[in-house]
Amino acid sequence: MKTTTWTHLVVLAALGASALAAEPALPPPPLGLPPVPVPADNPQTPEKIALGKKLFEDKRFSSTGKIACANCHVTEKAFTDGPLKTSKGINDLTGTRNAPTVVNAAYFTAQFWDGRSPSLEDQALHPFVNPVEMGLKDHQPILALVRTDPEYQPAFEQVFGKKGDAITMKEVTQAIASFERTQIAGNSPFDRFYFSGEEKALNAAQQRGLALFIGKGRCVSCHVIEQTTALFTDHRFHNVGIGITEIQADAPALATEFLKTRATLAEVDVKVLSDKRTSELGRLVVTRTFDDIGSFKTPTLRNAALTAPYMHDGSLKTLREVMVHYNNGGVTKKGAKVNDFLSGGILPLELTDKELDDLVAFMDALTSPELAKAGKAGKKGEVKP
Ligand code: HEC
Ligand code: HEC
Repeated sequence: MKTTTWTHLVVLAALGASALAAEPALPPPPLGLPPVPVPADNPQTPEKIALGKKLFEDKRFSSTGKIACANCHVTEKAFTDGPLKTSKGINDLTGTRNAPTVVNAAYFTAQFWDGRSPSLEDQALHPFVNPVEMGLKDHQPILALVRTDPEYQPAFEQVFGKKGDAITMKEVTQAIASFERTQIAGNSPFDRFYFSGEEKALNAAQQRGLALFIGKGRCVSCHVIEQTTALFTDHRFHNVGIGITEIQADAPALATEFLKTRATLAEVDVKVLSDKRTSELGRLVVTRTFDDIGSFKTPTLRNAALTAPYMHDGSLKTLREVMVHYNNGGVTKKGAKVNDFLSGGILPLELTDKELDDLVAFMDALTSPELAKAGKAGKKGEVKP
């Protein structure tokens, strides 16, 4: 991916690259996070970000006029829609998957649980026309609105220098992606402890949890922590035993059937969110490789304490349930048979109850202060689900 980072901009600006001199400064990333990758053809500007926010919150871009992106990615819920297991779109239709947070999604090398979309710009095309999300038949109603609306018209002209038919979904999705790139949150107690050496930032249970996360729990092998930053993801896909158990016996037949169709990615987007069994095939729908059955993207764990329920299907209600699932070696019920496609990295951990509590305590240490505050304001004091 061709990207420009803040560091590059600083260097180029210092070299006196005049084309970039007008570029507004991206704020430096918060403690614990790297610079936000920004595609070279979609630089951040304050006006574009503001336009993107407006588009993100506009309910008129749905067939019922009631659903915006922001309905499922709610600011006060760390940009998710908890406590819903799977999201609700137009007419209360439910999809198959749990809404991941948009916060820090800018760092992912692929979007969606199965990584079927390569960028934030591409991702933003799909919810508008997914029948269980915003339900439009095509993107025309959006273009009709932004080309004529008295507020959008001047905004698109100012940001992109375009008006009328010259405005396309490219500009719409670029603005949305620019807004999403500002939803960055680090500076958690973990970051202060680990990267700034603030020893008191974590309590004793959280410190023990961190040691387990890196050591006996082997969580860090997938939820990666680097030398100066931590995204808590390896940008890869693994089968950790969620959802797949329900289609286990039929999985090979379902996969074979899926592979017979030559679906486009737009068609795949519709199918995975409306058909639970296809959804459980996971990454296979993108790579068309049997090894990827039931594999999903390693999510970031930042702010997970604010985003219950968990996993791609929202099937685990609490962080404690997640820890039990891992402790059992990739099955929610202790002693149940693991699925045939389980990642080699998932094995029974034999952690004690107290150690599981410590891991949960460590997850709490990954909450960014500004999101905890927004949640408090939104939920009258109840931050934790
Ligand atoms: C009906 C609820 C709903 C609406 C409306 C919705 N989303 Fe989502 N969003 C989801 C769900 C569910 C997923 C996960 C789908 C999947 O992985 O297959 C998701 C995934 C994403 C992701 C990927 C994050 C990641 O970690 O991979 C981004 C980014 C995103 N949505 C942004 C948007 C934008 C932008 C809009 C509006 C254009 C939007 N969403 C509208 C529910 C919704
Ligand atoms: C083999 C790689 C791997 C290992 C090891 C691993 N995880 Fe995960 N983790 C994942 C993947 C992949 C998912 C999403 C799975 C899904 O939804 O099907 C996930 C999901 C999660 C979630 C849910 C996040 C959300 O937003 O829904 C939490 C919490 C979590 N892991 C914590 C841990 C902890 C704690 C450990 C160590 C005990 C651990 N993980 C070990 C890959 C891994």
